[in-house]
Amino acid sequence: MRDLRISITDRCNFRCLYCLPETEEAKDFYQSKWDALRNPQPAAARTTPIQYDWKPKAQLLTYEEITRIVRVGLSLGLRKIRLTGGEPLLRRDVPVLVQALTALGGIEDLAITTNGFLFARHGAALRAAGLHRVSFSLDSLDAVNFRKMTGRDGLAEVLAAIEQAQSLGFTAVKVNAVVIRGLNDHELETLAEWAHSRALSLRFIEFMPLDSSRAWQRDLVVPGREIVARLQARFDLVPVDQSQNPAETARRWAFPDGRGEIGVIAPVTEPFCGHCNRLRLTADGRVRTCLFSLEEPDLKPLLRGGATDADLAARLVEIVRGKEAGHRIGQADFVQPARSMSCIGG
Ligand code: 5AD
Ligand code: SF4
Repeated sequence: MRDLRISITDRCNFRCLYCLPETEEAKDFYQSKWDALRNPQPAAARTTPIQYDWKPKAQLLTYEEITRIVRVGLSLGLRKIRLTGGEPLLRRDVPVLVQALTALGGIEDLAITTNGFLFARHGAALRAAGLHRVSFSLDSLDAVNFRKMTGRDGLAEVLAAIEQAQSLGFTAVKVNAVVIRGLNDHELETLAEWAHSRALSLRFIEFMPLDSSRAWQRDLVVPGREIVARLQARFDLVPVDQSQNPAETARRWAFPDGRGEIGVIAPVTEPFCGHCNRLRLTADGRVRTCLFSLEEPDLKPLLRGGATDADLAARLVEIVRGKEAGHRIGQADFVQPARSMSCIGG
């Protein structure tokens, strides 16, 4: 395990259709898909959305507690830290946390994943505090479709944030786009062209069953292979040599002129679980060894019960030893975890 993703809040100012589909538009979209498919979705899935209760502040890890876990994790071999949410920039003073983590020394890659809406007012401070990289979520370049997908009129803000991140000197600014059939798959080429022209690193991600209303269905997944085939038909893509980084989840392609890059992340149709080196920490202090874990051991009793660093390290090792072999999407016994992506972090 080299990579720890830390959710610092479970709250979000967006309502993405693949994560927190609470808008009327999201409901209409899924309903139309179920109708078109003559309703193959089990009735229970439609009527029992995941009940997430926003965690009260006392249950959230403090910045001191997070920093302590990272310090212990670094001593065990962690190298990469990513701050996520929810929307991480909804939490106060994120640069203070970034600075504390930077001060630990030893983090090779310190990044944040944000929807970008609030980034403009924090970008400079995050950079100054030592943040290395930023990944934005952006699924559409069309204002109407953007709103449909995120529940919010925010395209202009997000585009401005991406530009600002580049001008602040964050390099290889990344953009994640979740692809959903019948919703934004017609924008694949436009998004790729945009990434090329802006020298961005764009990742297309298969839609995973991690939405709060359990509305995911396989037909909505555009397989990674199909995404690649479509892009190859349009662009002259050069495969990036990834032999040195087996744990990378994206298959990557460069454009011939070296500007920008495309990646495809296909956890549903081409699982990469065997190479996974990631751990996740939820905002309320639980460790997830997989996005799809059904159990999530709580570190709070240790943190708040006087445990030593050695106790904490031993517990982390024990948790990692129990990491599941892989996700079971598509298997008969697949169970969607109780938390949606907004409470896990990407
Ligand atoms: N499937 C795939 N990706 C998702 N994300 C959120 N929910 C899902 C899902 N159901 C992505 C977002 C963001 C990252 C944190 O996770 O696009 O970029
Ligand atoms: Fe969208 Fe991320 Fe918020 Fe989920 S947590 S609703 S993916 S912005």
